[in-house]
Amino acid sequence: MSESRQEYPHLRVPAPGDRLYLEPPPQYPAAMINVTNRCNLTCSHCYLYVDGNPNAERDQIPDDELLVEVERLRDRHGIIAIVWMGGEPMIRRRFLERAVSLFSKNTIATNGTIALTDLGPTVTYVVSLDGPPDLNDELRGAGVYAKARANVMSLAADFSSVVQVQCVVTRSNQHRLRELVVDFIGTRADGITFSFFCPAEGEQSELAWPSLSAREEAVDLVLALKDEYPRFVWNSRRALELMRVPTADLVTSNCPAERTVMPLYVSGGQITTPRCCHGNKVDCARCGAWVVFSHAAKIPGPWDEVLPPTQPYGFLAQTLLEAPCLESQQDIQQEKTR
Ligand SMILES: C[S@@+](CC[C@H](N)C(=O)[O-])C[C@H]1O[C@@H](n2cnc3c(N)ncnc32)[C@H](O)[C@@H]1O
Ligand code: SF4
Ligand code: SF4
Repeated sequence: MSESRQEYPHLRVPAPGDRLYLEPPPQYPAAMINVTNRCNLTCSHCYLYVDGNPNAERDQIPDDELLVEVERLRDRHGIIAIVWMGGEPMIRRRFLERAVSLFSKNTIATNGTIALTDLGPTVTYVVSLDGPPDLNDELRGAGVYAKARANVMSLAADFSSVVQVQCVVTRSNQHRLRELVVDFIGTRADGITFSFFCPAEGEQSELAWPSLSAREEAVDLVLALKDEYPRFVWNSRRALELMRVPTADLVTSNCPAERTVMPLYVSGGQITTPRCCHGNKVDCARCGAWVVFSHAAKIPGPWDEVLPPTQPYGFLAQTLLEAPCLESQQDIQQEKTR
């Protein structure tokens, strides 16, 4: 365990393989679940379809069984918010129509190629598009940008679910992000978040920055977009600043998402938990996932000593700090039995 984690007990992580069975159950404010390992696209940058991750297409839990299991995990681990993922979760649209009633805050991450249905205001659709049409389609497949955009544009005026775009920033698209922003401003999309490419361990591709210092230019470019479109770009300035060299490593080596988001994958017809939401194979040191830095901006951690927070911490921090972490719960039990 890193020294920082010892000083910040709310960041201590239960052993990944044991999380589903530990007593007392570790509490998580949020979870993500791959409702299917199937996808109608084959994006070249996708972290899911990498050897070593639970991702076999045939592995799927039937609707009724999965609903019962998710409800049980919600109650056992105190989960408040959920991200429905995959593969492509909209392949199981009928399941989602039922499942969103289990939570008061739902996010559905989708490639946008399957029509979005109105699932009410507790649902946010995150439509993934990774740059302007030519660059997006290089990664996601020919015609995907046009299809996803057409689906967003065709939403009825009274569509009550929130819609946002999410873009994976890469070394290849970092100079052309503005085109994507401009193409969605004034549409039914309420905002955009930028998540930075998470390479697999050892990956040296045209998408990946070789180092954190090489990534700084991309951070600057997104910060400039935040200045230009402060309401449409939803990344916070603090979350982006934390991606810089002095703090990025402090964040990823004490990854807040490991404690805030319970990762639920499906393998062999059963729920399983990989290391984190991004599976088992992402290079932690170069991880730029939105959720990691967004949550680091919202909870105390060793990064505060380098970049002190400018406003008081809110709900997420309160939830984590109030729920005793697993090890302190075990310490309490040991104290009692002494
Ligand atoms: C695995 S996909 C599943 C949901 C859906 N199929 C989609 O594309 O949105 C979830 C999100 O992870 C992003 N993603 C995939 N591979 C990534 C990587 N290597 N680094 C960062 N984000 C990645 C996708 O762009 C998408 O926004
Ligand atoms: S659509 Fe989503 S799950 Fe499917 S390959 Fe692309 S990023 Fe991966
Ligand atoms: S890969 Fe990213 S999300 Fe996963 S543990 Fe590492 S820093 Fe956290």
